[in-house]
Amino acid sequence: MDKIAVYPGSFDPITYGHLDLLDRGLTIFDRIIIAIADNPAQKPLFTLEERLEMIKLSVQDHPQRHRLDIDTFHGLLVDYVRTVKSSAILRGLRAVSDFEYEFQMALMNRKLNGDIETLYFMTGMRWIYISSSIIKEVVASGGCVTGLVPEPVERGLAKRLGAPAKKSL
Ligand code: PNS
Repeated sequence: MDKIAVYPGSFDPITYGHLDLLDRGLTIFDRIIIAIADNPAQKPLFTLEERLEMIKLSVQDHPQRHRLDIDTFHGLLVDYVRTVKSSAILRGLRAVSDFEYEFQMALMNRKLNGDIETLYFMTGMRWIYISSSIIKEVVASGGCVTGLVPEPVERGLAKRLGAPAKKSL
């Protein structure tokens, strides 16, 4: 039977940090479902459909594309995980600052459904300082994020926040 993990997040937008984590997850799981949370209360920059489209474009040439699914979910993550017949949640950790939030979330999810485990992978060193928020902030202020996000995301950010000047990092 296939080992399936759900990789949930806002992905507003997806970065190379997320894709790095996906690659790490694929070494352990047969299939990974990238699950984009529909949480309008968070006021995302990109709509659910835009995030879905950007992720699809970002992984379209991935050598393991056949082992990846991309989906959206509403409501509780643990309920979604059960509906796709998985029992594993995949999350990334960058720095100690991520820990408190992740710990709280993992324990809450365990309380909600004790059959589901959360697994944490350490983000690659190259991406340790990247987050969706900081990427948006840089682009909004006119900076360049080439090499930090997939090209479809770079285009989406430029369209939404104004084209950044092409400068080397
Ligand atoms: O990328 P993010 O914003 O850190 O992802 C957070 C996310 C979407 C995984 C989390 O907010 C979530 O699971 N939301 C769904 C609602 C839910 O199940 N909440 C209880 C878990 S704390």
